[in-house]
Amino acid sequence: MGSLWSQFSTPNPMFTEDDVAPQDSKVFRITGGYSGIGFELAKMLYRKKGRVYIAGRSDQKGQQGIKDIQHSASAEAFKPKEAKLHVLWNNVGVCQPPVGSASKQVIELQLATNCLGPFLFIRYQLLDHAH
Ligand SMILES: NC(=O)c1ccc[n+]([C@@H]2O[C@H](COP(=O)([O-])OP(=O)(O)OC[C@H]3O[C@@H](n4cnc5c(N)ncnc54)[C@H](OP(=O)(O)O)[C@@H]3O)[C@@H](O)[C@H]2O)c1
Repeated sequence: MGSLWSQFSTPNPMFTEDDVAPQDSKVFRITGGYSGIGFELAKMLYRKKGRVYIAGRSDQKGQQGIKDIQHSASAEAFKPKEAKLHVLWNNVGVCQPPVGSASKQVIELQLATNCLGPFLFIRYQLLDHAH
């Protein structure tokens, strides 16, 4: 009954970005961090002084995303290299695309984006650099 009622009168959130602890010593990497939920997350963590890296397929959107994030916050600039990665947030994803949708490699779009993409990203972008 409570959840039904809350659909008509949305309660105030019990946890907001103001409640997030400082992230000074943490390094984050967020796929799709230049738009949607990923962008909001990147902005929030950057404001909390986390070192945030965004990954995506569009250079232009990435540059714009970084500008927007830096513009909305005043923390120190990204450092080019990190010794550790504390959090990888695989945010990129599509949900129920039209039947028949496929990636450039002609793999069903949801499988390619939500499963294969993150797997390959971790395998070739992160693990190779860890050695
Ligand atoms: N919004 C919701 O209510 C909701 C609910 C449940 C789950 N989710 C999940 O939360 C995540 C973010 O959602 P959102 O609403 O922020 O989505 P969004 O605004 O559509 O953003 C999706 C992100 O994924 C990237 N992307 C999509 N296909 C890609 C591909 N093939 N290769 C590389 N990047 C790709 C997009 O980059 P480009 O700009 O380059 O396309 C964009 O940065 C998704 O995984 C979504 O399924 C969202």
